[in-house]
Amino acid sequence: MNATTKTQFVGDASRLKSRVNILKRLRPEFYEKEVEKIFRRGWLPVASLTDVPETNSYAVVDVPTLKTSLILTRGEDDKIRAFHNICRHRGNRLVPPGKGCKRAFSCGFHGWAFANDGRLISVTDRTQFDDLDEGELGLLKVHAEAWEDFVFVNFDPAPRESLREWLGKMYDEYTGYFSDREKIASYRIQVESNWNVTINSFSEGYHSLYVHRKTVPDYQGGKDNPQRHRAYLELMKRNARYTAQGNPNRKETPVEAIAYGHGRKMYPAFPRYMPSDNTVPPGVNASRNENWSFDVLEMFPHVIVLIGAHWHANMWFWPVDAGRTDIRVDFLAYKAETVGDHFAHAYFRARLREVFREDIGTMEAIGAMLRSGAMSDIMLSRQELLIQQHYAAADEMIQQP
Ligand code: FES
Ligand SMILES: [Fe+2]
Repeated sequence: MNATTKTQFVGDASRLKSRVNILKRLRPEFYEKEVEKIFRRGWLPVASLTDVPETNSYAVVDVPTLKTSLILTRGEDDKIRAFHNICRHRGNRLVPPGKGCKRAFSCGFHGWAFANDGRLISVTDRTQFDDLDEGELGLLKVHAEAWEDFVFVNFDPAPRESLREWLGKMYDEYTGYFSDREKIASYRIQVESNWNVTINSFSEGYHSLYVHRKTVPDYQGGKDNPQRHRAYLELMKRNARYTAQGNPNRKETPVEAIAYGHGRKMYPAFPRYMPSDNTVPPGVNASRNENWSFDVLEMFPHVIVLIGAHWHANMWFWPVDAGRTDIRVDFLAYKAETVGDHFAHAYFRARLREVFREDIGTMEAIGAMLRSGAMSDIMLSRQELLIQQHYAAADEMIQQP
């Protein structure tokens, strides 16, 4: 380690800009372009695969950005499918919010029923319909595909890229890492701030020394890394990731010792806990930093994944309009088997929740001040390269015909 930890930068930063016009992004006309060119064309993670864990399970997911609700299903054939949650008779919302296990869905309005592969299987009082073809009245499909812990959808009738092309090199770099996890907490909040601003709050660690000075004063940093530089930062096709390095001088607190003494070490977990044989897939702690604390992965356009040992957190930043964002957060951890494991989960949940609350706190303050129109550009450092990449990727998609 150097006197000051230097970031290992990987990837092409030549198209990135350290000064970004944020003001134009708050305008409804600009937002409409983001919806049409980015959200209606890209592959969007919409749910965790743990929401549809087994054959015939389903989950209803609202997508406010595209003003729709989706039904995600796992069929008898184990295939993941997505449909607009709309009954083909007269447009009622077919399935109420929630999740569960069902082979078929029947509409509460007049009783039409659809199989979980989308087929229309029952029309009540059928003889009274003169001109009706069941074959063409299945649920309206959206392209869907599973990748690791995520269900991705694509609203484009003919997606311009496959999911593999969209994710690029990272497609094969996380194999199996998120499996065998259970959801241990879910939060949802709507904030008065532009979606870009909200996701930007989670894709840099520069703020951790200031925003989180009370809750987690010493998890990162340490005498060799006072500015908390990221150990590793990689730009990919549109996505990007970095490694947050733990503070090697930090001592475990008595409460952590109890919480993690009977379950597995989660966050924070020091000293080092990387398996020495490097059994984690190549995308996790990509530089094999010996003081690895966690990784941050931005899956463009609207998802951040925090990746740690025995846990990950999925965060969705769904734009509602140019000035409001629907934020959903799930914490997932290794499956608990003992009381000690549950205790470890509980401590982890309480700790991380406080940190998240602080992150959310800055968003509305920024949102309110940007709305004043007093300032047009934001300034971004090299430690904020994930944010630079976010805007470069967005602009490229917006400029497409
Ligand atoms: S709207 Fe669904 S059965 Fe009539
Ligand atoms: Fe933070």
